Amino acid sequence: MTKAIGIDAGGTLTKLAYLNDMNEIQLKHFPSNDLPAVIDWIHQQNDIQKIGLTGGRTEQVKLMLDSVKSVHYIVEFEATLKGVRYQLAKEGYQFDKSIITNIGTGTSIHFMDEKEHMRVGGTGVGGGTLIGLAALTTGIHDYQEVLQLAKDGNRQGIDLLVQDIYQGMDTPSELKPTLTASNFGKVGIKEFEKYEQADILATVQGLVGEVITTLSIQLANQMDAEYILYIGTTLDHNDKLREIIADYTILKKKTPVFLEDHGFSGAIGALMNIIE
Ligand SMILES: Nc1ncnc2c1ncn2[C@@H]1O[C@H](COP(=O)(O)OP(=O)(O)OP(=O)(O)O)[C@@H](O)[C@H]1O
Ligand SMILES: [Mg+2]
Repeated sequence: MTKAIGIDAGGTLTKLAYLNDMNEIQLKHFPSNDLPAVIDWIHQQNDIQKIGLTGGRTEQVKLMLDSVKSVHYIVEFEATLKGVRYQLAKEGYQFDKSIITNIGTGTSIHFMDEKEHMRVGGTGVGGGTLIGLAALTTGIHDYQEVLQLAKDGNRQGIDLLVQDIYQGMDTPSELKPTLTASNFGKVGIKEFEKYEQADILATVQGLVGEVITTLSIQLANQMDAEYILYIGTTLDHNDKLREIIADYTILKKKTPVFLEDHGFSGAIGALMNIIE
């Protein structure tokens, strides 16, 4: 049997989607700074003959894939949308109209309805920012360690909330007192102290989550979409980030949706593109 594989070679991680002997989709990822490991893995599966490729590191992967029979490139946004539509149907979601926020190394935001899709915005604040700021502020580079510490951190001594500004008076009616008025804003207006690593990391996580959610909500309003689908590997094992995103999205009267294999939409789309 000819075997096929979809590859989404992203700025940080290279995601693979392929079918096993039972025709079930299997998923796997490698760091994009170790592409030879991806190539080795593909060569070990000696019956792979068809490859669907997408993502910003496509050319680098392609150059290393000389022995493989056929490679089919698909534009990243197309692949992501194809994957997303497949995943939504598989998980039983019914809606067609939605904002799709892909939290990769950076964040790319799309709109889709039953007829069309388009890129509507994005921000350089994404998973790369989470790792980068975490490393700069605490010296911790390990992603799992960052998540573990951030989980129990407390943002209250670092973030400035609306209620911290409006002291002894009512907050404006459109502003919830517990909303962040300024991410990291408390640090600069009080005597400097030494902050716990866990608290700094929780605050970095809050900044990343809130920037992305704020932009997604604004674009959902602009496009008149109720649902916001959040995808990207940055959501992996990261309940805290999901919670920040979900709470704020709900507060702004939108419906957040998280897929099971949220990091693999591009790879699944690249696979669908060659087997459909
Ligand atoms: N094992 C891991 N190693 C590194 N980063 C991880 C890991 N697991 C989750 N992440 C997070 O996922 C982010 C990358 O997400 P994703 O794989 O969706 O992006 P990408 O496709 O590589 O980037 P882009 O789409 O912007 O080119 C990292 O920045 C990091 O925050
Ligand atoms: Mg990506």
